[in-house]
Amino acid sequence: MSAEWNSALETPTCDSSTQRKLFIETVGCQMNVLDSEMVVASLRRQGYSLVDSAADADTILFNTCSVREHAEEKVYANLAKLKKMKLAHPEKIVGVMGCMAQKDQRIVFERAPYVDLVVGPGQLHRIPELLQRIAEGQGKQMAVSLGRRDGSQDEIRRSHESFDPLRDPTMRPTPFQAYLRIQIGCDKFCTYCIVPMTRGPEQGRPPSQILAEAHELARQGCKEITFLGQTVNSYRYREGQRETRLADLLEMVHEVDGIERLKFVTSYPKDMDRRLLETVRDLPKCSTYLHVPAQSGSDAVLKRMKRGYTVADYYEMMDRIRDIIPDAAVSSDFIVGFCGETERDFEQTVRLVERCRFKNSFIFKYSVRPGTKAAELYPDDVPDDVKARRNNELLAVQNAISQEDNLKFLGRRVEVLVEGPSKTSIRRGESGPLRQMMGRTMCDRIVVWDGNERQAGHTLPVLIHDASSHTLFGTVETVQITSAPETVQLNIL
Ligand code: SAH
Ligand code: SF4
Ligand code: F3S
Repeated sequence: MSAEWNSALETPTCDSSTQRKLFIETVGCQMNVLDSEMVVASLRRQGYSLVDSAADADTILFNTCSVREHAEEKVYANLAKLKKMKLAHPEKIVGVMGCMAQKDQRIVFERAPYVDLVVGPGQLHRIPELLQRIAEGQGKQMAVSLGRRDGSQDEIRRSHESFDPLRDPTMRPTPFQAYLRIQIGCDKFCTYCIVPMTRGPEQGRPPSQILAEAHELARQGCKEITFLGQTVNSYRYREGQRETRLADLLEMVHEVDGIERLKFVTSYPKDMDRRLLETVRDLPKCSTYLHVPAQSGSDAVLKRMKRGYTVADYYEMMDRIRDIIPDAAVSSDFIVGFCGETERDFEQTVRLVERCRFKNSFIFKYSVRPGTKAAELYPDDVPDDVKARRNNELLAVQNAISQEDNLKFLGRRVEVLVEGPSKTSIRRGESGPLRQMMGRTMCDRIVVWDGNERQAGHTLPVLIHDASSHTLFGTVETVQITSAPETVQLNIL
Protein backbone atom coordinates (compact mmCIF):
# COMPACT_ATOMS: atom_id res chain seq x y z
CA MET A 1 0.00 0.00 0.00
CA SER A 2 1.44 3.38 -0.91
CA ALA A 3 2.14 5.91 1.81
CA GLU A 4 -0.18 8.43 0.25
CA TRP A 5 -3.16 6.09 0.41
CA ASN A 6 -2.37 5.56 4.08
CA SER A 7 -2.32 9.22 4.90
CA ALA A 8 -5.60 9.73 3.02
CA LEU A 9 -7.14 6.95 5.08
CA GLU A 10 -5.79 8.01 8.43
CA THR A 11 -7.07 11.56 8.17
CA PRO A 12 -10.76 11.29 7.34
CA THR A 13 -11.74 14.73 6.16
CA CYS A 14 -15.50 14.41 6.13
CA ASP A 15 -18.04 14.06 8.88
CA SER A 16 -20.19 11.15 7.69
CA SER A 17 -23.32 12.85 9.07
CA THR A 18 -23.05 15.29 6.13
CA GLN A 19 -22.97 12.55 3.53
CA ARG A 20 -21.81 13.66 0.11
CA LYS A 21 -23.27 12.15 -3.02
CA LEU A 22 -21.00 10.91 -5.77
CA PHE A 23 -21.83 10.12 -9.40
CA ILE A 24 -19.13 8.51 -11.50
CA GLU A 25 -19.23 7.72 -15.21
CA THR A 26 -16.62 5.37 -16.62
CA VAL A 27 -15.54 4.83 -20.23
CA GLY A 28 -12.47 3.04 -21.63
CA CYS A 29 -10.84 -0.27 -20.82
CA GLN A 30 -10.89 -2.62 -17.83
CA MET A 31 -8.13 -0.52 -16.23
CA ASN A 32 -10.61 2.33 -15.95
CA VAL A 33 -13.32 0.07 -14.53
CA LEU A 34 -10.86 -0.98 -11.84
CA ASP A 35 -9.71 2.61 -11.22
CA SER A 36 -13.30 3.72 -10.70
CA GLU A 37 -13.83 0.90 -8.20
CA MET A 38 -10.76 2.07 -6.32
CA VAL A 39 -11.77 5.74 -6.28
CA VAL A 40 -15.30 4.90 -5.10
CA ALA A 41 -13.86 2.71 -2.33
CA SER A 42 -11.61 5.55 -1.13
CA LEU A 43 -14.42 8.12 -1.27
CA ARG A 44 -16.85 5.85 0.60
CA ARG A 45 -14.34 5.85 3.45
CA GLN A 46 -14.60 9.62 3.42
CA GLY A 47 -18.37 9.44 3.88
CA TYR A 48 -19.51 9.61 0.25
CA SER A 49 -22.42 7.54 -1.06
CA LEU A 50 -22.96 6.60 -4.68
CA VAL A 51 -25.97 7.91 -6.67
CA ASP A 52 -27.28 6.96 -10.13
CA SER A 53 -27.42 10.33 -11.85
CA ALA A 54 -25.39 13.52 -12.13
CA ALA A 55 -28.51 15.54 -11.18
CA ASP A 56 -28.69 13.85 -7.75
CA ALA A 57 -24.96 14.19 -7.03
CA ASP A 58 -22.89 16.93 -5.46
CA THR A 59 -19.65 15.45 -6.81
CA ILE A 60 -19.52 14.28 -10.43
CA LEU A 61 -16.52 12.40 -11.78
CA PHE A 62 -15.80 11.34 -15.37
CA ASN A 63 -13.27 8.54 -15.77
CA THR A 64 -11.99 9.07 -19.29
CA CYS A 65 -10.16 7.34 -22.17
CA SER A 66 -7.88 8.80 -24.84
CA VAL A 67 -7.30 5.79 -27.04
CA ARG A 68 -9.39 7.21 -29.91
CA GLU A 69 -10.58 10.75 -30.64
CA HIS A 70 -14.23 9.69 -30.52
CA ALA A 71 -13.90 8.57 -26.86
CA GLU A 72 -12.57 12.02 -25.92
CA GLU A 73 -15.16 13.98 -27.89
CA LYS A 74 -17.93 12.07 -26.12
CA VAL A 75 -16.56 13.13 -22.73
CA TYR A 76 -16.31 16.78 -23.77
CA ALA A 77 -19.91 16.58 -25.08
CA ASN A 78 -21.07 15.10 -21.76
CA LEU A 79 -19.19 17.77 -19.84
CA ALA A 80 -20.86 20.49 -21.94
CA LYS A 81 -24.24 19.11 -20.83
CA LEU A 82 -23.29 19.88 -17.21
CA LYS A 83 -22.62 23.56 -17.86
CA LYS A 84 -26.16 24.74 -17.06
CA MET A 85 -26.31 22.64 -13.91
CA LYS A 86 -22.96 23.99 -12.71
CA LEU A 87 -24.10 27.60 -13.28
CA ALA A 88 -27.26 26.96 -11.22
CA HIS A 89 -25.33 24.99 -8.53
CA PRO A 90 -21.75 26.28 -8.38
CA GLU A 91 -21.21 24.27 -5.18
CA LYS A 92 -21.35 21.00 -7.16
CA ILE A 93 -17.88 19.65 -7.94
CA VAL A 94 -17.10 18.37 -11.44
CA GLY A 95 -13.95 16.29 -11.94
CA VAL A 96 -12.20 14.66 -14.90
CA MET A 97 -9.97 11.70 -14.12
CA GLY A 98 -8.22 9.01 -16.17
CA CYS A 99 -6.23 8.98 -19.40
CA MET A 100 -7.73 12.11 -20.99
CA ALA A 101 -6.99 14.06 -17.81
CA GLN A 102 -3.35 12.99 -18.05
CA LYS A 103 -3.14 13.74 -21.77
CA ASP A 104 -5.01 17.07 -21.90
CA GLN A 105 -4.16 18.40 -18.41
CA ARG A 106 -4.93 22.19 -18.40
CA ILE A 107 -6.67 21.92 -21.78
CA VAL A 108 -9.57 20.29 -19.90
CA PHE A 109 -10.05 23.52 -17.89
CA GLU A 110 -9.82 25.55 -21.12
CA ARG A 111 -12.34 23.46 -23.06
CA ALA A 112 -14.67 23.01 -20.06
CA PRO A 113 -14.14 25.98 -17.71
CA TYR A 114 -16.67 24.66 -15.17
CA VAL A 115 -14.48 21.63 -14.40
CA ASP A 116 -12.96 21.87 -10.89
CA LEU A 117 -10.65 18.88 -10.85
CA VAL A 118 -8.27 17.12 -13.27
CA VAL A 119 -6.53 13.92 -12.07
CA GLY A 120 -4.39 11.53 -14.13
CA PRO A 121 -4.60 7.74 -13.64
CA GLY A 122 -1.33 7.71 -11.68
CA GLN A 123 -2.58 10.22 -9.11
CA LEU A 124 -6.01 8.85 -8.24
CA HIS A 125 -5.04 8.31 -4.59
CA ARG A 126 -5.05 12.10 -4.20
CA ILE A 127 -8.72 12.56 -5.12
CA PRO A 128 -10.10 12.68 -1.52
CA GLU A 129 -7.57 15.36 -0.54
CA LEU A 130 -8.13 17.41 -3.72
CA LEU A 131 -11.93 17.31 -3.37
CA GLN A 132 -11.52 18.56 0.19
CA ARG A 133 -9.39 21.47 -1.01
CA ILE A 134 -12.02 22.43 -3.59
CA ALA A 135 -14.77 22.22 -0.94
CA GLU A 136 -12.69 24.53 1.28
CA GLY A 137 -12.61 27.14 -1.50
CA GLN A 138 -9.01 26.64 -2.61
CA GLY A 139 -10.04 26.71 -6.28
CA LYS A 140 -9.41 24.34 -9.15
CA GLN A 141 -7.08 21.41 -8.50
CA MET A 142 -4.96 19.33 -10.83
CA ALA A 143 -2.75 16.27 -10.15
CA VAL A 144 -1.03 14.57 -13.08
CA SER A 145 1.97 12.30 -13.45
CA LEU A 146 5.28 13.29 -15.03
CA GLY A 147 5.64 13.10 -18.82
CA ARG A 148 7.91 10.38 -20.24
CA ARG A 149 10.84 12.80 -20.48
CA ASP A 150 10.14 15.00 -17.47
CA GLY A 151 12.38 13.48 -14.81
CA SER A 152 14.58 10.55 -13.86
CA GLN A 153 13.20 7.08 -14.70
CA ASP A 154 12.58 6.54 -11.02
CA GLU A 155 10.70 9.81 -10.52
CA ILE A 156 8.55 9.18 -13.59
CA ARG A 157 7.76 5.64 -12.44
CA ARG A 158 6.78 6.75 -8.95
CA SER A 159 4.53 9.50 -10.31
CA HIS A 160 2.48 6.84 -12.15
CA GLU A 161 2.15 4.47 -9.21
CA SER A 162 -1.44 4.44 -8.07
CA PHE A 163 -1.56 0.89 -6.81
CA ASP A 164 -4.71 -0.69 -5.55
CA PRO A 165 -5.06 -1.05 -1.82
CA LEU A 166 -8.80 -0.41 -1.64
CA ARG A 167 -11.55 -2.48 -3.20
CA ASP A 168 -15.33 -2.05 -3.36
CA PRO A 169 -17.30 -5.17 -4.31
CA THR A 170 -20.43 -3.17 -5.18
CA MET A 171 -18.61 -1.45 -8.04
CA ARG A 172 -17.63 -4.65 -9.83
CA PRO A 173 -19.18 -5.98 -13.02
CA THR A 174 -20.64 -8.67 -10.71
CA PRO A 175 -19.88 -9.50 -7.05
CA PHE A 176 -18.20 -12.75 -8.14
CA GLN A 177 -15.74 -11.26 -10.60
CA ALA A 178 -12.90 -8.83 -10.00
CA TYR A 179 -10.01 -7.27 -11.86
CA LEU A 180 -6.59 -7.36 -10.26
CA ARG A 181 -3.91 -5.12 -11.72
CA ILE A 182 -0.56 -6.86 -11.91
CA GLN A 183 1.15 -4.36 -14.16
CA ILE A 184 0.78 -0.66 -14.90
CA GLY A 185 1.94 1.35 -17.91
CA CYS A 186 3.47 0.22 -21.17
CA ASP A 187 6.90 0.46 -22.78
CA LYS A 188 6.03 -0.99 -26.19
CA PHE A 189 5.35 2.39 -27.83
CA CYS A 190 3.32 1.11 -30.78
CA THR A 191 3.38 4.16 -33.05
CA TYR A 192 -0.43 4.71 -33.04
CA CYS A 193 -0.95 4.38 -29.29
CA ILE A 194 -1.32 7.01 -26.56
CA VAL A 195 -1.30 4.57 -23.62
CA PRO A 196 2.48 4.71 -22.87
CA MET A 197 2.02 8.47 -22.44
CA THR A 198 -1.12 8.35 -20.29
CA ARG A 199 -0.21 5.34 -18.14
CA GLY A 200 3.57 5.82 -17.98
CA PRO A 201 6.38 3.25 -17.85
CA GLU A 202 5.73 -0.47 -17.56
CA GLN A 203 5.97 -1.65 -13.95
CA GLY A 204 5.12 -5.00 -12.42
CA ARG A 205 3.51 -4.95 -8.99
CA PRO A 206 5.27 -6.96 -6.29
CA PRO A 207 3.94 -10.57 -6.16
CA SER A 208 3.31 -10.30 -2.41
CA GLN A 209 0.87 -7.39 -2.97
CA ILE A 210 -0.89 -9.26 -5.76
CA LEU A 211 -1.29 -12.38 -3.63
CA ALA A 212 -2.56 -10.38 -0.65
CA GLU A 213 -5.12 -8.69 -2.86
CA ALA A 214 -6.24 -12.05 -4.31
CA HIS A 215 -6.82 -13.36 -0.75
CA GLU A 216 -8.81 -10.23 0.08
CA LEU A 217 -10.93 -10.65 -3.06
CA ALA A 218 -11.61 -14.30 -2.20
CA ARG A 219 -12.60 -13.25 1.31
CA GLN A 220 -15.09 -10.82 -0.23
CA GLY A 221 -16.72 -13.69 -2.14
CA CYS A 222 -15.03 -13.22 -5.49
CA LYS A 223 -14.74 -16.40 -7.58
CA GLU A 224 -13.11 -15.17 -10.76
CA ILE A 225 -10.05 -12.95 -10.93
CA THR A 226 -8.84 -11.32 -14.14
CA PHE A 227 -5.25 -10.10 -14.03
CA LEU A 228 -4.86 -6.79 -15.85
CA GLY A 229 -1.91 -5.34 -17.71
CA GLN A 230 -1.44 -3.61 -21.08
CA THR A 231 0.94 -6.42 -22.03
CA VAL A 232 0.06 -8.69 -19.14
CA ASN A 233 2.18 -11.64 -20.28
CA SER A 234 5.29 -9.44 -20.36
CA TYR A 235 4.91 -9.16 -16.54
CA ARG A 236 8.14 -9.51 -14.63
CA TYR A 237 9.19 -8.57 -11.12
CA ARG A 238 12.74 -8.86 -9.86
CA GLU A 239 13.75 -9.23 -6.21
CA GLY A 240 17.50 -9.87 -5.94
CA GLN A 241 18.22 -12.97 -8.05
CA ARG A 242 14.59 -14.06 -8.19
CA GLU A 243 12.38 -13.14 -11.12
CA THR A 244 8.62 -13.67 -11.04
CA ARG A 245 6.72 -14.03 -14.33
CA LEU A 246 3.00 -14.29 -15.12
CA ALA A 247 3.14 -18.11 -15.00
CA ASP A 248 4.45 -17.90 -11.40
CA LEU A 249 1.65 -15.51 -10.41
CA LEU A 250 -0.96 -17.85 -11.89
CA GLU A 251 0.50 -20.73 -9.88
CA MET A 252 0.46 -18.65 -6.68
CA VAL A 253 -3.09 -17.32 -7.02
CA HIS A 254 -4.32 -20.76 -8.17
CA GLU A 255 -3.78 -21.91 -4.56
CA VAL A 256 -6.14 -19.27 -3.10
CA ASP A 257 -9.23 -20.98 -1.67
CA GLY A 258 -12.51 -19.69 -3.07
CA ILE A 259 -11.04 -18.55 -6.39
CA GLU A 260 -12.45 -20.77 -9.14
CA ARG A 261 -11.30 -19.05 -12.32
CA LEU A 262 -8.27 -17.08 -13.42
CA LYS A 263 -7.98 -14.99 -16.57
CA PHE A 264 -5.48 -12.43 -17.84
CA VAL A 265 -5.70 -9.62 -20.42
CA THR A 266 -4.20 -8.23 -22.66
CA SER A 267 -1.39 -10.40 -24.00
CA TYR A 268 1.42 -9.35 -26.29
CA PRO A 269 2.15 -11.84 -29.14
CA LYS A 270 5.95 -11.87 -28.65
CA ASP A 271 5.67 -12.89 -24.99
CA MET A 272 3.26 -15.83 -25.39
CA ASP A 273 5.89 -18.40 -24.45
CA ARG A 274 5.64 -22.18 -23.97
CA ARG A 275 5.95 -22.04 -20.21
CA LEU A 276 2.99 -19.67 -19.86
CA LEU A 277 0.84 -21.77 -22.22
CA GLU A 278 1.75 -24.99 -20.41
CA THR A 279 0.86 -23.33 -17.11
CA VAL A 280 -2.56 -22.31 -18.48
CA ARG A 281 -3.07 -25.88 -19.75
CA ASP A 282 -2.02 -27.52 -16.47
CA LEU A 283 -3.83 -25.32 -13.93
CA PRO A 284 -7.50 -26.33 -13.84
CA LYS A 285 -8.66 -22.89 -12.65
CA CYS A 286 -7.04 -21.10 -15.62
CA SER A 287 -9.44 -19.96 -18.30
CA THR A 288 -8.50 -21.21 -21.76
CA TYR A 289 -9.19 -17.78 -23.20
CA LEU A 290 -6.33 -15.71 -24.61
CA HIS A 291 -6.67 -12.15 -25.87
CA VAL A 292 -3.65 -11.51 -28.11
CA PRO A 293 -4.19 -8.57 -30.47
CA ALA A 294 -2.63 -8.96 -33.93
CA GLN A 295 -3.59 -5.40 -35.10
CA SER A 296 -2.84 -6.15 -38.79
CA GLY A 297 -2.06 -9.02 -41.16
CA SER A 298 0.44 -7.04 -43.23
CA ASP A 299 4.14 -6.98 -42.42
CA ALA A 300 4.52 -3.48 -43.89
CA VAL A 301 1.74 -2.14 -41.63
CA LEU A 302 3.01 -4.02 -38.55
CA LYS A 303 6.42 -2.46 -39.16
CA ARG A 304 4.99 1.06 -39.36
CA MET A 305 2.99 0.29 -36.21
CA LYS A 306 6.27 -0.84 -34.56
CA ARG A 307 4.52 -3.89 -33.14
CA GLY A 308 7.78 -5.85 -32.92
CA TYR A 309 6.63 -9.02 -34.76
CA THR A 310 5.88 -10.20 -38.28
CA VAL A 311 2.84 -12.06 -39.57
CA ALA A 312 4.99 -15.24 -39.61
CA ASP A 313 5.81 -14.68 -35.90
CA TYR A 314 2.11 -14.33 -35.14
CA TYR A 315 1.27 -17.57 -37.01
CA GLU A 316 4.06 -19.32 -35.14
CA MET A 317 2.51 -18.14 -31.86
CA MET A 318 -0.94 -19.38 -32.96
CA ASP A 319 0.54 -22.79 -33.82
CA ARG A 320 2.15 -22.91 -30.38
CA ILE A 321 -1.20 -22.09 -28.73
CA ARG A 322 -3.07 -24.73 -30.78
CA ASP A 323 -0.35 -27.28 -30.09
CA ILE A 324 -0.32 -26.79 -26.30
CA ILE A 325 -3.99 -25.85 -25.65
CA PRO A 326 -5.99 -27.23 -28.61
CA ASP A 327 -9.35 -25.94 -27.36
CA ALA A 328 -8.13 -22.43 -26.43
CA ALA A 329 -10.34 -19.54 -27.52
CA VAL A 330 -8.21 -16.72 -28.91
CA SER A 331 -9.45 -13.20 -29.55
CA SER A 332 -7.78 -10.23 -31.22
CA ASP A 333 -7.87 -6.48 -31.85
CA PHE A 334 -7.40 -4.90 -35.28
CA ILE A 335 -6.88 -1.36 -36.46
CA VAL A 336 -8.12 -0.77 -40.01
CA GLY A 337 -7.08 2.19 -42.15
CA PHE A 338 -3.76 2.76 -40.41
CA CYS A 339 -1.47 5.22 -42.26
CA GLY A 340 -0.55 3.88 -45.71
CA GLU A 341 -2.74 0.74 -45.44
CA THR A 342 -3.41 -0.41 -49.03
CA GLU A 343 -6.20 -2.67 -50.25
CA ARG A 344 -3.62 -5.46 -50.44
CA ASP A 345 -2.53 -4.87 -46.81
CA PHE A 346 -6.17 -5.05 -45.79
CA GLU A 347 -6.73 -8.30 -47.72
CA GLN A 348 -3.79 -9.80 -45.83
CA THR A 349 -5.53 -8.87 -42.58
CA VAL A 350 -8.68 -10.64 -43.81
CA ARG A 351 -6.56 -13.71 -44.57
CA LEU A 352 -5.02 -13.63 -41.10
CA VAL A 353 -8.49 -13.55 -39.52
CA GLU A 354 -9.61 -16.46 -41.73
CA ARG A 355 -6.56 -18.50 -40.86
CA CYS A 356 -6.50 -17.79 -37.10
CA ARG A 357 -10.25 -18.28 -36.54
CA PHE A 358 -10.51 -15.98 -33.53
CA LYS A 359 -13.35 -16.40 -31.06
CA ASN A 360 -14.02 -12.71 -31.64
CA SER A 361 -12.17 -9.59 -32.75
CA PHE A 362 -12.44 -5.97 -31.68
CA ILE A 363 -12.03 -3.86 -34.80
CA PHE A 364 -11.22 -0.14 -34.73
CA LYS A 365 -10.80 2.55 -37.36
CA TYR A 366 -7.43 4.24 -36.98
CA SER A 367 -7.68 7.50 -35.06
CA VAL A 368 -4.72 9.90 -35.03
CA ARG A 369 -3.48 10.57 -31.51
CA PRO A 370 -1.41 13.75 -31.16
CA GLY A 371 1.79 13.05 -29.28
CA THR A 372 2.32 9.60 -30.84
CA LYS A 373 5.03 8.66 -33.36
CA ALA A 374 2.47 7.84 -36.06
CA ALA A 375 0.93 11.31 -35.74
CA GLU A 376 4.40 12.79 -36.19
CA LEU A 377 5.70 10.51 -38.97
CA TYR A 378 2.86 9.30 -41.18
CA PRO A 379 -0.09 11.06 -42.83
CA ASP A 380 -3.55 9.73 -41.92
CA ASP A 381 -4.18 9.01 -45.59
CA VAL A 382 -6.94 6.39 -45.62
CA PRO A 383 -10.28 8.18 -46.13
CA ASP A 384 -12.90 7.64 -43.45
CA ASP A 385 -15.35 5.88 -45.81
CA VAL A 386 -12.61 3.39 -46.73
CA LYS A 387 -11.85 2.80 -43.03
CA ALA A 388 -15.58 2.25 -42.40
CA ARG A 389 -15.89 -0.21 -45.30
CA ARG A 390 -12.84 -2.20 -44.20
CA ASN A 391 -14.17 -2.23 -40.64
CA ASN A 392 -17.52 -3.65 -41.79
CA GLU A 393 -15.91 -6.19 -44.12
CA LEU A 394 -13.53 -7.52 -41.49
CA LEU A 395 -16.33 -7.67 -38.92
CA ALA A 396 -18.49 -9.69 -41.34
CA VAL A 397 -15.64 -12.19 -41.91
CA GLN A 398 -15.06 -12.49 -38.16
CA ASN A 399 -18.78 -12.86 -37.37
CA ALA A 400 -19.17 -15.68 -39.89
CA ILE A 401 -16.23 -17.52 -38.27
CA SER A 402 -17.60 -16.90 -34.75
CA GLN A 403 -20.99 -18.26 -35.80
CA GLU A 404 -19.49 -21.36 -37.44
CA ASP A 405 -17.34 -22.12 -34.40
CA ASN A 406 -20.20 -21.50 -31.98
CA LEU A 407 -22.41 -23.97 -33.88
CA LYS A 408 -19.89 -26.68 -32.97
CA PHE A 409 -21.18 -26.34 -29.38
CA LEU A 410 -24.69 -27.58 -30.27
CA GLY A 411 -25.55 -30.61 -28.16
CA ARG A 412 -22.52 -30.07 -25.90
CA ARG A 413 -22.60 -29.54 -22.17
CA VAL A 414 -20.53 -26.58 -20.88
CA GLU A 415 -19.67 -25.38 -17.38
CA VAL A 416 -20.91 -21.82 -16.93
CA LEU A 417 -20.06 -19.35 -14.18
CA VAL A 418 -23.37 -17.48 -13.81
CA GLU A 419 -22.92 -13.71 -13.83
CA GLY A 420 -26.56 -12.55 -13.49
CA PRO A 421 -29.58 -11.56 -15.60
CA SER A 422 -28.70 -11.01 -19.27
CA LYS A 423 -28.76 -7.48 -20.68
CA THR A 424 -31.89 -8.23 -22.71
CA SER A 425 -33.66 -9.47 -19.62
CA ILE A 426 -32.79 -6.27 -17.76
CA ARG A 427 -33.89 -4.12 -20.73
CA ARG A 428 -37.22 -5.90 -20.95
CA GLY A 429 -37.66 -5.52 -17.20
CA GLU A 430 -38.35 -9.23 -16.84
CA SER A 431 -38.91 -10.40 -13.31
CA GLY A 432 -40.81 -13.27 -11.73
CA PRO A 433 -39.66 -16.88 -11.52
CA LEU A 434 -38.01 -17.08 -14.96
CA ARG A 435 -35.48 -14.58 -16.25
CA GLN A 436 -32.97 -14.82 -19.02
CA MET A 437 -29.67 -15.39 -17.20
CA MET A 438 -26.13 -15.12 -18.60
CA GLY A 439 -22.74 -16.52 -17.78
CA ARG A 440 -19.49 -17.53 -19.42
CA THR A 441 -17.76 -20.79 -20.23
CA MET A 442 -14.17 -21.48 -19.21
CA CYS A 443 -13.15 -20.22 -22.68
CA ASP A 444 -15.10 -16.97 -22.21
CA ARG A 445 -18.06 -17.76 -24.48
CA ILE A 446 -21.29 -16.02 -23.48
CA VAL A 447 -24.16 -18.39 -22.64
CA VAL A 448 -27.81 -17.45 -21.96
CA TRP A 449 -30.76 -19.54 -20.72
CA ASP A 450 -34.04 -19.15 -18.88
CA GLY A 451 -33.25 -19.41 -15.20
CA ASN A 452 -33.52 -17.44 -12.01
CA GLU A 453 -31.42 -14.97 -10.06
CA ARG A 454 -30.55 -17.49 -7.34
CA GLN A 455 -28.26 -19.09 -9.89
CA ALA A 456 -25.91 -16.07 -9.90
CA GLY A 457 -22.42 -16.89 -8.66
CA HIS A 458 -22.81 -20.66 -9.16
CA THR A 459 -21.03 -22.76 -11.76
CA LEU A 460 -23.69 -24.75 -13.59
CA PRO A 461 -23.77 -27.30 -16.42
CA VAL A 462 -25.63 -25.94 -19.44
CA LEU A 463 -26.68 -28.00 -22.46
CA ILE A 464 -26.34 -25.90 -25.63
CA HIS A 465 -29.15 -26.04 -28.20
CA ASP A 466 -28.65 -22.91 -30.30
CA ALA A 467 -25.89 -20.45 -31.21
CA SER A 468 -25.36 -17.07 -32.82
CA SER A 469 -22.01 -15.43 -33.56
CA HIS A 470 -21.86 -13.88 -30.08
CA THR A 471 -23.98 -16.13 -27.88
CA LEU A 472 -24.68 -19.75 -27.02
CA PHE A 473 -28.26 -20.58 -25.94
CA GLY A 474 -28.95 -23.48 -23.62
CA THR A 475 -30.78 -25.10 -20.73
CA VAL A 476 -29.39 -25.72 -17.27
CA GLU A 477 -29.06 -29.42 -16.67
CA THR A 478 -30.35 -30.78 -13.39
CA VAL A 479 -27.65 -30.73 -10.74
CA GLN A 480 -27.90 -33.55 -8.21
CA ILE A 481 -25.92 -33.98 -5.05
CA THR A 482 -25.40 -37.72 -5.02
CA SER A 483 -23.24 -37.84 -1.91
CA ALA A 484 -26.17 -36.79 0.30
CA PRO A 485 -28.10 -39.57 2.13
CA GLU A 486 -30.84 -39.24 -0.44
CA THR A 487 -30.29 -37.51 -3.74
CA VAL A 488 -31.13 -33.82 -3.36
CA GLN A 489 -31.85 -31.48 -6.20
CA LEU A 490 -30.30 -28.05 -5.79
CA ASN A 491 -32.93 -25.37 -5.20
CA ILE A 492 -31.22 -22.97 -7.56
CA LEU A 493 -32.66 -24.73 -10.59
N1 SAH B 1 -2.49 -2.97 -24.50
C1 SAH B 1 -3.36 -3.57 -25.37
C2 SAH B 1 -4.44 -2.67 -25.96
C3 SAH B 1 -4.52 -1.27 -25.63
S1 SAH B 1 -5.66 -0.24 -26.46
C4 SAH B 1 -2.55 -4.18 -26.47
O1 SAH B 1 -1.47 -3.77 -26.73
O2 SAH B 1 -3.04 -5.07 -27.11
C5 SAH B 1 -6.89 -1.33 -27.08
C6 SAH B 1 -6.94 -1.39 -28.57
O3 SAH B 1 -7.27 -0.13 -29.11
C7 SAH B 1 -5.63 -1.75 -29.24
O4 SAH B 1 -5.39 -3.11 -29.24
C8 SAH B 1 -5.82 -1.21 -30.63
O5 SAH B 1 -6.42 -2.16 -31.47
C9 SAH B 1 -6.79 -0.05 -30.42
N2 SAH B 1 -6.12 1.26 -30.60
C10 SAH B 1 -5.09 1.76 -29.90
N3 SAH B 1 -4.74 2.97 -30.40
C11 SAH B 1 -5.59 3.23 -31.43
C12 SAH B 1 -5.73 4.30 -32.34
N4 SAH B 1 -4.91 5.35 -32.31
N5 SAH B 1 -6.72 4.23 -33.26
C13 SAH B 1 -7.54 3.17 -33.31
N6 SAH B 1 -7.46 2.12 -32.49
C14 SAH B 1 -6.49 2.15 -31.54
FE1 SF4 C 1 -0.56 0.58 -26.78
FE2 SF4 C 1 1.08 -1.10 -27.98
FE3 SF4 C 1 1.30 -0.68 -25.36
FE4 SF4 C 1 -0.78 -2.00 -26.28
S1 SF4 C 1 1.36 -2.65 -26.40
S2 SF4 C 1 -0.83 -0.34 -24.77
S3 SF4 C 1 -1.18 -1.01 -28.23
S4 SF4 C 1 1.68 0.81 -26.95
FE1 F3S D 1 -8.30 4.20 -22.78
FE2 F3S D 1 -6.48 4.64 -20.99
FE3 F3S D 1 -7.56 2.25 -21.19
S1 F3S D 1 -6.50 5.45 -23.05
S2 F3S D 1 -8.03 2.12 -23.36
S3 F3S D 1 -8.60 4.09 -20.59
S4 F3S D 1 -5.46 2.72 -20.67
